Amino acid sequence: MPDGADFEEWKAQPGPQMELLRCPVFEVFYGGARGGGKTDGVLGEWLEHADKYGEHAIGLMIRRTLKQLRETIARSKQIYRHVGDFNETDKEWTFRNGARLIFAYLERDSDADNYQGHSYTRVYVEEIGNFPSPAPIMKLMATLRSGAAVPCGFRATGNPGGAGHQWVKARYIDPAPLGRKLIASEFKNPFTGEIVRRNRVYIPSRVTDNGYLGGDYVANLHMSGSEELVRAWLEGDWNVIAGAFFPEFGPKHLVKPFEVPKEWTRFRSMDWGSAKPFSVGWWAISDGSLPAFPRGALIRYREWYGCKPGEPNTGLKMPAEEVGEGIRDRERGETIGYGVLDPAAFASDGGPSIWERLKLPNMRRADNKRTAGTGAMGGWDQVRARLLGDERPMIYFFDTCRDLIRTLPALQHDENKPEDVDTEAEDHAPDEVRYACMSRPYLRKDQPKKEPVFPGIAIGGIESPRTRAPTMDRLWKDHDREGAR
Ligand SMILES: Nc1ncnc2c1ncn2[C@@H]1O[C@H](COP(=O)(O)OP(=O)(O)OP(=O)(O)O)[C@@H](O)[C@H]1O
Ligand SMILES: [Mg+2]
Repeated sequence: MPDGADFEEWKAQPGPQMELLRCPVFEVFYGGARGGGKTDGVLGEWLEHADKYGEHAIGLMIRRTLKQLRETIARSKQIYRHVGDFNETDKEWTFRNGARLIFAYLERDSDADNYQGHSYTRVYVEEIGNFPSPAPIMKLMATLRSGAAVPCGFRATGNPGGAGHQWVKARYIDPAPLGRKLIASEFKNPFTGEIVRRNRVYIPSRVTDNGYLGGDYVANLHMSGSEELVRAWLEGDWNVIAGAFFPEFGPKHLVKPFEVPKEWTRFRSMDWGSAKPFSVGWWAISDGSLPAFPRGALIRYREWYGCKPGEPNTGLKMPAEEVGEGIRDRERGETIGYGVLDPAAFASDGGPSIWERLKLPNMRRADNKRTAGTGAMGGWDQVRARLLGDERPMIYFFDTCRDLIRTLPALQHDENKPEDVDTEAEDHAPDEVRYACMSRPYLRKDQPKKEPVFPGIAIGGIESPRTRAPTMDRLWKDHDREGAR
């Protein structure tokens, strides 16, 4: 690049940041903890890329919201000010050697469709955990191609926590929790369906890898989150779900399936979904005749979750008539006293409503009050009250109710409204649990104490990565041997 000398101003720190700059792997997840130099790392990686490929280097840097994007842009202005011009309207840097970097935010998943047909040599996603689903990210990945044979790459950063915690953990952390290990993956282009074989890798970095941050930064973190959340941020501990909405939920609520006595009242609760999953829960109310359950306790003895296999939070798009039939089939031989269905399913815009099409006996409108109003308890409070119970919980789940067990502990607090859940997460099964609880109001003998706003819960079994992983040199050798880009 003609003005290459100017680019020398910013230098990567030795360690993970340098590893990121040297990393030839197609898809990289960098960071995994707070303060490790992630934002600087990706901005610096772009410099390296732009320096090498000049006008053929075209980059896209994404964040979830405009507010978050502004932070990254502000830092880019400090680092790039001598080597490029920033167009505020287009949020685009043009560098002296012709390289271009565009900043954008994707507040809605569907915004990713606007990038169909674009070509980039680098796509960066800052704080990927803010994206509740990987779908828009895969669409961005599909834009990586170069007419000038520039080796293209995807670079993401993130911390534990956030609406996308689970899928990010599953994609990047679980296969190699210590990182620095190639993970072979097949990438399916969501626009064309084409399958391409790629590699991905996790390069962990922590605040201790960043010589520019000291005790002040750590002290500030301690003031902005619960103990669990701060530990997760600092150690990159992805087994802690920081900010879990129901830290009360645990093994004591799970029971092995048993024959529910015929006399117990049964009912169903349902959250309708088509593009998103629908969820149906079947409940029995204990009459106290079995010693394991207090009288009045709810037992979820079956569920039906309409989710595409292997694709969390994606619905089956099954017609309501078919779903109704499936529900009636599952209830054959049982007496279902009543059902509660999410009120949105009663709306009809011209044609019959979902409720009408389901054709289910005794199905009534659920009380959809999520949080407390004056004098009344909200739905989430009802669920919490039952999880806590008095001497024993007042709600139980057959351990076969997999999707509820998967999604309830993953619910997070809404950042702006901590008494509600972050609705960007997969909340369909918990929603119908809420309807079920609202249909059988329960008051604890001990009035609930004020619960902490951001408690944490530990789930999963993998040890947090404390030791160093294999060297990067080994990794690049493996990578070259496989002949991947
Ligand atoms: N190579 C570098 N040169 C100069 N300053 C750096 C470098 N790397 C990191 N820093 C500084 O360290 C601080 C934290 O780095 P950065 O913002 O990149 O971390 P982060 O992992 O993105 O943090 P957070 O988790 O808070 O978003 C910033 O003030 C940044 O300017
Ligand atoms: Mg950052």
